[in-house]
Amino acid sequence: MSRTVYVNGDFLPEQEASISIFDRGFLFADGVYEVTAVVDGHMLDFEPHMDRLQRSLGEISLESPYDRDTLRAMHEELIARNQLDQGLIYMHITRGPADRDFHYPKQPVPTLIGFTQASNLVDNPKAASGIKVASVPDIRWARRDIKSIALLAQAMAKQAAADKGASEAWMVEDGFVTEGSSSTAYIVKGGRIITRQLSQKVLAGITRRALLKLAEQENVEIEQRPFTLDEAKGADEAFLSSASTLVFPVIEIDGVPIGDGTPGPVARKLRRIYLELARRRPDSA
Ligand code: PDD
Repeated sequence: MSRTVYVNGDFLPEQEASISIFDRGFLFADGVYEVTAVVDGHMLDFEPHMDRLQRSLGEISLESPYDRDTLRAMHEELIARNQLDQGLIYMHITRGPADRDFHYPKQPVPTLIGFTQASNLVDNPKAASGIKVASVPDIRWARRDIKSIALLAQAMAKQAAADKGASEAWMVEDGFVTEGSSSTAYIVKGGRIITRQLSQKVLAGITRRALLKLAEQENVEIEQRPFTLDEAKGADEAFLSSASTLVFPVIEIDGVPIGDGTPGPVARKLRRIYLELARRRPDSA
């Protein structure tokens, strides 16, 4: 079935959607994006996603002509027109088409696109089995807090992991794990969750935000600090989070089983309560 996608104000069959080859998103990766999870036809954490979008836009000095109500309406219309029950909404804003010139155009006409991608978020078999992770050097730029559409380093990382039979890459810099190629990384030791503190070195995950709040409510201790790859390999458990996975337990890193090599209790519990909350109060998880 052909999807209905969104381009600059229009909802179109995906085959009819197009953008200019001069779009700065295409030529310079000059744009930012968001990916929002949809469960039972409702978006999870829409407002925090839009807060992060606003921040990313500010960091690249791109003023969006689209207010939040317009963006929400676009997302909801995409869900409705595509009858999306479970999956993701991808959206991005670029600095739009202009003659190829590194300088920002004086009067940009930003491009906004959006589309849905159905996927099995709730009963994903990887949530039950856990996943394998492979480490790769973190070769990305220095502003990973900006959700930039420049994702070549992450695509290379994910492919390198896949070539080793792993589902996700954990990127390592100066011996410390920064994050997954498209997810936040966590380990658990002695009942405490350890995940890197927010900085320009990592993306401020929206799922991370929700999970840490839930963990606090459950009186689970949280340490926000970098951890090394060796520490991760010796942890009691490990897991990752993102809009596209929610929570996946990690059962192996570089071939080393984590804990007893099965999904750990903290990851399983966080996934369960995050999903319960999402299904009860879809937009305020
Ligand atoms: N990626 N870190 C990186 C580098 C990411 O690309 C993502 C998400 C996350 C988790 O963020 P969130 O919880 O807000 O999804 C962390 C999305 C899903 C993607 O690019 O498809």
